[in-house]
Amino acid sequence: MEFIDLKKQYKLYKDEIDKKIWDNINNATFINGKDVAELETTLASYVGAKYAVACSTGTDALLIPLMAYGIKAGDEIITTPFTFAATIEVICMLGAKPVFVDIDERTYNMDPTKIEAKITKNTKGIIPVSLYGQVADMDEINKIAKKHKLFVMEDACESFGAIYKGKKSCALSDVSATSFFPSKPLGCYGDGGMMFTSNTELYEKIKCIANHGQQGRYNHVMLGLNFRLDTLQAGIMLAKFKHFEDECIKRKEIGAKYTEKFKGSEVIAPYIAPYTDRCVYAQYSIRVKNREAVIKKLTEKGIPTAVHYPIPLHMQPGYQSFGYKVGDFPISETVAKEIMSLPMHPFLTDEEINTVTTAVREAL
Ligand SMILES: Cc1ncc(COP(=O)(O)O)c(C=O)c1O
Repeated sequence: MEFIDLKKQYKLYKDEIDKKIWDNINNATFINGKDVAELETTLASYVGAKYAVACSTGTDALLIPLMAYGIKAGDEIITTPFTFAATIEVICMLGAKPVFVDIDERTYNMDPTKIEAKITKNTKGIIPVSLYGQVADMDEINKIAKKHKLFVMEDACESFGAIYKGKKSCALSDVSATSFFPSKPLGCYGDGGMMFTSNTELYEKIKCIANHGQQGRYNHVMLGLNFRLDTLQAGIMLAKFKHFEDECIKRKEIGAKYTEKFKGSEVIAPYIAPYTDRCVYAQYSIRVKNREAVIKKLTEKGIPTAVHYPIPLHMQPGYQSFGYKVGDFPISETVAKEIMSLPMHPFLTDEEINTVTTAVREAL
């Protein structure tokens, strides 16, 4: 059994993907080819944002907007400690401080009720993370940000395709960042990312920063870097995107089937908040008390698992200089001890769901 079945996906869409790859090789426009622009307009319109800018990774998609906002040493950015390290790497890269807010015990996303207590005169923005494919409570977060004149950037690296109160992830804040890492809901065949905004001034800045800070060739108007997405990746994603909506529908159905099978057991299945119209289950993550034993039993049966994420960021050795200590974010700490992810992709069969859920129940 595969944790994420990219081989099956390729076999199903092979003709379309191969055609895109060979067309782009024959065209030889490997950088800034027409598929990059087409992917940007296609995905901007899909999420409902005015603009999209493709870039090299989800990490860079988080970094570039912070550069555009002029984030620097002494600034503070509010985010959650229960996320992938990239969310705070970008803050630290610019010399700013990640200020953590604990998560909601049910959704695992930032708890909006805890944000205001963390705002200081140095706070510049908030990065809520839409973890595991479910959007954070953006309306509440945006309300607080507006009151305190802060920007909001959704870390949508795990939530492309998710729907919150009828609106798509990536179009719910001043700017957002997603990742096309191969295992993401919409993945490419390497690294890739994208930023979305409806703010024209911000769009122009991020577009410029992503291409060496150039406005026209060799006219460097601001500090930038080479953050470009290559044309081959854009073409592959255009081919895959034709099937993306169907895949999101299947992901939602498979998540619901898993959850149904865990009813009445000790497993804490993912909680879907009333404001969530669609969770895309970038990961289907459950909580169990005896995680290591469950993982061992599943591994013995050939069922792959993963842990997203075993150590909250305030407890990671690389981030001790910020002075956080064990016990500061108790919900993140508890969840990190109990969480584990099960195989999840749009091609998972009923039989496989049965095999996994039976194995988990037996292991408990
Ligand atoms: C929440 C979150 N933020 C940021 C990233 C970084 O994305 P990438 O791996 O494309 O740089 C990821 C991807 O793993 C992620 O899950």
